[in-house]
Amino acid sequence: MHNASHEINSVEDAARKAVTDNLFAPRFYTTDFAAMDRLNVEPVRAEWDAMMAEYEGDNNHDHFQRDAAFADEARELFAKLPHELQQEFLDFLVSSLTSEFSGCVLYNEIKRNVSNPDIRQLMEYMARDESRHAGFINSSLKDYGLGIDLGNLKRSKHYTYFKPKYIMYATYLSEKIGYARYIRIFRQFEQYPERRFHPIFRWFQRWCNDEFRHGESFALIMRAHPELLRGGNVLWIRFFLLAVYATMYVRDHTRPALKQAMGLEPTEYDFEVFRICNEITKQVFPVLLDIDHPAFHANLERLFHCSQKADEGKQAGGLFGSLKRAAWSVAGAAVFVRMYFIPVKQNELPQQTRMQPSW
Ligand SMILES: [Fe+2]
Ligand SMILES: [Fe+2]
Repeated sequence: MHNASHEINSVEDAARKAVTDNLFAPRFYTTDFAAMDRLNVEPVRAEWDAMMAEYEGDNNHDHFQRDAAFADEARELFAKLPHELQQEFLDFLVSSLTSEFSGCVLYNEIKRNVSNPDIRQLMEYMARDESRHAGFINSSLKDYGLGIDLGNLKRSKHYTYFKPKYIMYATYLSEKIGYARYIRIFRQFEQYPERRFHPIFRWFQRWCNDEFRHGESFALIMRAHPELLRGGNVLWIRFFLLAVYATMYVRDHTRPALKQAMGLEPTEYDFEVFRICNEITKQVFPVLLDIDHPAFHANLERLFHCSQKADEGKQAGGLFGSLKRAAWSVAGAAVFVRMYFIPVKQNELPQQTRMQPSW
């Protein structure tokens, strides 16, 4: 993070950051639309209809608006932050924007390519929400002259193809972990308002309730297709759980200044988020990661170490740097595999899928 080439000092830097794909950057996805069109939510109709009524009610329609004081407060507080924190915060804004916009693009594309009325309607509502979220973050980047051209990002970003079931696991998890991360931060600033270094955090509670509901939608779709939650697919669920948890751990530890400025210790914060997320995923996943297993934390630390070393190799460049990077990447992959085999906890699915965002 100290390397100047990582810094965001211009619109071009921000745009480059958003479009670059690496292991830890949010990606854009495409999928099999015909298979999406065949999804059938009849087995969960009652819960589905109740959820759609909530989307239709749109209780956040007036939430994502800024008052006149917002930009002034944002600029004033930002100017007082240490350089490293400024950079981590900008990195946070750009990667959050990319991730919100990724959802917006995917949900819009699915909507345009299916005729199934349930799925079309759902995708339209979720794209509506993500578009508001992305626009709201972009306004904050614009306050610093760093706004991102979203049309251009949509055209120039690489799209990763995921089978529909991988979209379900990955998107469900990213919506729910997004909720858990935002609500924990919101609660922190509720308790320590003097620490709040940007007005955007005041919006997080109602914002993350949208993400919670998006997660509910995927939970219901998966419960309506129980084959996605059985047999060999359980191995995929384990994979996605671990990939999402581990990525978050490494990212948060790579930019600790942001969490520290909030008064949150990265490891504690991450484990609280894992705990919330584990509670929520009981609604749909037949297994939970055993985050209290002693090897779980120890290996996350190892993974972070490998990632730091690989990054050093990348920074150094040249043949030696490339070898170092490759060797530590392989070591990191081996740690990931070891973590994959830590025994998981079995979970019996509840009768009723839907949950309330009560954290
Ligand atoms: Fe969102
Ligand atoms: Fe979302």
